Parts: sequence; structure tokens; C-alpha cells
Amino acid sequence: RTLRIGLIPGDGIGKEVIPAGRRVLEALPAYLKLKFEFVDLKAGFEAFEQTGAALPEKTVDILKAECDGALFGAVSSPTQAVKGYSSPIVALRKKLDLYANVRPVKSVMTAVKPIDMVIVRENTEDLYVKEEKTYSGPDGKVAEAIKRISERASFRIATMAGDIAVRRQRLREDGASSIHKSPLVTVTHKSNVLSQTDGLFRAASKSALSAARFNGVTVEEQIVDSMVYKLFRQPEDYDVIVAPNLYGDILSDGAAALVGSLGLVPSANVGEGFAIGEPCHGSAPDIMGKGIANPIATLRSVALMLEFLEEPAAAAKIYAAVDANLEAGVLVTPDLGGTATTEQVVEDILNKL
Ligand code: NAI
Ligand code: MG
Repeated sequence: RTLRIGLIPGDGIGKEVIPAGRRVLEALPAYLKLKFEFVDLKAGFEAFEQTGAALPEKTVDILKAECDGALFGAVSSPTQAVKGYSSPIVALRKKLDLYANVRPVKSVMTAVKPIDMVIVRENTEDLYVKEEKTYSGPDGKVAEAIKRISERASFRIATMAGDIAVRRQRLREDGASSIHKSPLVTVTHKSNVLSQTDGLFRAASKSALSAARFNGVTVEEQIVDSMVYKLFRQPEDYDVIVAPNLYGDILSDGAAALVGSLGLVPSANVGEGFAIGEPCHGSAPDIMGKGIANPIATLRSVALMLEFLEEPAAAAKIYAAVDANLEAGVLVTPDLGGTATTEQVVEDILNKL
């Protein structure tokens, strides 16, 4: 099988880590029978300054027409609003209907608190429909925002969470290292207060997860505030967490903090038959150009993209090579307390691959 992958490095260290992603794909063992073709694509602040568009139409057209998946580095957002500039990744998610944001958070196996969870965040609705208004009420200014939850989007995201739980279990049975023995999905909401919106999310999620193919998956629910509490106290308890957009955004950044460095945490933006791997970190202007950016968030994002392109064996190879590098703990970048360069870490992981 040949997969055509769009490469969108973006700004700052995006340009240093996306090439590492390409190299790891090219180094996959031949018996996997996977070939890759790459297309270089533009987006970000630099693209905006050069072309007037943060997300050039050509980038979207090529992704839609030619690509099976993509890797997105990071983009810089200007600190003051710049006319005509808006986040290209937000626009891409809309244009390609990438309705899920998936963020696995995993600690090194030697960590004090072992963590191995995935946060599955609905990506198209909730308060992020951005329907806001401000008006003058009898007591002064009032601002309002719409929180929109649909049965369809909730059902779809919970189904994806269930499928991820099943797939993770299969990977464990194939020998992937994990702290969990059986699959668990935790549905997060605040339906005790928001009985209609979050109530619908809860009901649709439970209905999706009652499908026969999820028989082996334990389904729990957790009110979002107590979810935060437990996430910090007992992160080892969680396997797959599914949440509406806003809670998912907050939970996933919080969970990333549990494993130390942003340089370790991957994500994927997923739709029907298309996935974009994206490290969680930004363009890191403080370290750009120094050759010390941690490439692991990107390499794990490559593996995550492969999972959603139905290539779990290739994904498992990359995860194992990354884990082996981290467990040895010698060739690691400064964000993890080491002295290695991006290049040295990539070389080590390619050797382990
Ligand atoms: P950041 O994630 O770029 O950096 C935060 C801190 O983490 C910095 O000290 C940085 O050096 C460190 N760091 C991040 N990634 C690292 C890696 N791979 N290896 C080693 N250290 C790493 O967030 P910050 O500084 O808030 O934002 C910088 C720029 O990035 C801004 O313009 C911001 O808007 C943008 N940004 C873009 C994102 C995206 O493209 N998805 C996400 C977050 C921020
Ligand atoms: Mg966020």
C-alpha cells in the first residue's frame, strides 16, 4: 500500500520536527509493505506573511484531492490580532470535517505515577460554535454564548472512543506495553447541571457505547469537575476519556501536564478516512533554530496518524522505538533533562526501529 502524506511544518520548531516525522516513515521495516509519498504544503504565520493566507487554498485542495493523511507541525499566532489572520489548524479541522481530536498521554514506564490514557475530544460543536453576542440588559452589559450539542456528533465521538478502546486492547494483546488489563471508556459531562445539553451528550454516548461490538468495554461516567480531581490524583485509573469540546480541550491540556514535557504529547485530528497528526506543542520560539526540540511528540503523532489510517502494526513499531529511547533515558533532549540534540534522538529512535 502506498500512502500519500501532506507535510505542513508551519512555523518555528515545526520545521525541525516534521522532517523527523518523514524520516521515521521512510525507515519503517520493509516487511510492513508500506510505501510513502510526500507533498510539501504551506500554512502558518510565515505562509500568511508570504502569501496573504494562513491556510492557502492550494494546501486544502491538495489535502482533499491527493492525500491519505497529513502531518502538521505548529504555527505561531501573533500576540496582537492581525487583520486577516486566523488559526489554520482550526480552519483545516472545519474544511476537512475532522470531528475528533485525539490525544494520548503516556508516561515512561519507570515514572512514579504510570499514565496511559487517551482523551477523545469532540471537535465541531459545544461552546466553540462561537455564536456569541453582547447586549445591554437592564443592569448593564451582558454577553452570551451558545452551547450546541447534537445527538449525531455525540454519538459519533463516543463511537470513536469505543473503537479506540477496542483497538488499544488489541494492541496490548499483541504485546504493547500498558498499565491497563481491560478496556475502559469514561464519559465526561456535567449533566447534573446542564441536563439538556450535557444530558444529550451523556445519553447519546451511552447509546453509542452499548453497541454489541463494545461488549468487552467497561463504560463509566464522570462529572467533569470530579474528573479533573481524579485525573490528577489517580491518573493511572483512566484508559479512554470522551468529552464534549470545551471539557475535552481543558482535560487534554491538563493531562499533558501530568507527563512533564509538551515535547512528548501527540495528537490527531480525525475525520472519516482522513487523519492529521499534530504534536500538542506550539512553535516554541524560545528554542527554535537551536536544534534541541524534542521530536517525540511528532513521532508519536506519526504513529497515531497511522493508527487511524488502519496501519496499527506500523504504528506499534514507532511507539515501541520511542518507548525504548525514553526508557534508556540517555539520548534525551534538554526539556527532559538531557543534553541530546533533535538529530541524536531521531538517530537513536531510527536505530531502535
Ligand atoms: P509552546 O508549546 O510553543 O512552548 C511552551 C514551552 O514548551 C516553551 O518553553 C518551549 O520551548 C517548550 N516546548 C514546546 N515544544 C517543545 C519541544 N518539542 N521540545 C522541547 N521543548 C518544547 O507554547 P507557547 O510558547 O505558549 O507558544 C509559542 C507559539 O506557538 C505561539 O505563537 C502560540 O500561539 C503557538 N502555539 C501553536 C500551537 C499549535 O500550532 N497547535 C499550540 C500552542 C501554541
Ligand atoms: Mg487546547
